[in-house]
Amino acid sequence: MSNTQFKTTPNGVLTGTLRVPGDKSMSHRSIMLGSLAEGVTSVKGFLNGEDCIATMNAFRNMGVEIEEKSPTELVIHGVGMHGLQEPKAELDMGNSGTAMRLLTGLLAGQSFDATMIGDESLSGRPMNRIIKPLSMMGAKIESEQGGRPPLRIRGIHGIREGHALKGIHYDLPIASAQVKSAVLLAGLFADGETSVTEPGVTRDHTERMLRGFGYDVETSGDKGQYISLKGGAKLIACDIDIPADISSAAFFMVGASIAEGSDLTLQHVGVNPTRTGVIDILKLMGADITLSNQQEVGGEPVADIRIRSAQLKGIHIPEELVPLAIDEFPVIFVAAACAEGETVLSGAEELRVKESDRIQVMADGLTSCGIDCEVQPDGIIIQGGQLTSGDIESHHDHRISMAFAIAGLRATGEILINDAANVDTSFPGFVELASAVGLGVSRVS
Ligand code: S3P
Repeated sequence: MSNTQFKTTPNGVLTGTLRVPGDKSMSHRSIMLGSLAEGVTSVKGFLNGEDCIATMNAFRNMGVEIEEKSPTELVIHGVGMHGLQEPKAELDMGNSGTAMRLLTGLLAGQSFDATMIGDESLSGRPMNRIIKPLSMMGAKIESEQGGRPPLRIRGIHGIREGHALKGIHYDLPIASAQVKSAVLLAGLFADGETSVTEPGVTRDHTERMLRGFGYDVETSGDKGQYISLKGGAKLIACDIDIPADISSAAFFMVGASIAEGSDLTLQHVGVNPTRTGVIDILKLMGADITLSNQQEVGGEPVADIRIRSAQLKGIHIPEELVPLAIDEFPVIFVAAACAEGETVLSGAEELRVKESDRIQVMADGLTSCGIDCEVQPDGIIIQGGQLTSGDIESHHDHRISMAFAIAGLRATGEILINDAANVDTSFPGFVELASAVGLGVSRVS
């Protein structure tokens, strides 16, 4: 793999308005549910990044016609719940854990065999977390040693429609939307009821989008932690309007907070309450963030977010906010590095099994930029200080690269970020969009 590098220059000020690309979680789900629906689903605001393209290609390889009217507008010709065809080759899910885990749930209920592979990072990620509950439902899944990809999913031959698997109740041992979604999606093909209880609230896009496609999903508990559905019903095509991804917006929330003189508005951002932990955490740190134009679009709350620079202070991050900000910690660590005092994160061991070990990789990068960090098994303690120039190993993790591009705003010199090509998995056009609002970042190779 060639080494794409980013280089930052200090002292940027972020101003103006910006719409970041579409939500990654919703984009994956729009392809999956649109493909299985009856009728034609049109999608606006699709994230044309490598992760979601991997999902799109997988469904094309299973016989679904997906037209690209523009990079962000799709028309999906649904084949119905039992219309997928056996793929002729292995399905390559690239860097995407979401694609592989959710698709395993769907493939578990098909009548054909399929194999899914991934890149080096995905090939090292744990899959037992989905293999275990799906096997309890009757799925036949083979993996490499230790539950790592490739995954080979054996079809259930001679199935009666809607009865391929058996419904179960599963108590999720970790707060994971991917595990919850894999079980619920398999539940579409199961006999009877499938239900899960989650130990903490996780993103609920699967539940919301299933309802948008006319599928009954029940939730109860004051925070919606018990979720159930019955197998064997249909999905009916619908129109989907995907808002901007709060996980991509988060880089600019931190950037505009730490760069003195900034005043930036992020347009049409998805503010589903299961995703807004980053706003809560930054506000606790003293950030100046206001929401306006709040509305509901296609069953998902959306708002414009205005951020003005503010002096941040270190905090103890409340553990219940961890699953609600799970993808935003790399850039929250940059906010902590620029804050006055100490920031403490605990209860976040999941960060160690993301696209990289985000606790260790961020600690190494921040240390190389002169920041004091103490790594803990389930978190980190960061002392706010002065970022210096640095040389960062991103470990091919998109969010590490973008976090250090933002750190460049407050560094005393240039930060060089290695292996930044994977930024295209979630945020195509990052360098151009970020430069347009005042971030000093360029691609050097
Ligand atoms: C996602 C769930 C989260 C998140 C990932 C996207 C999803 O993973 O980190 O980027 O779309 O369901 P976990 O469920 O493993 O926490």
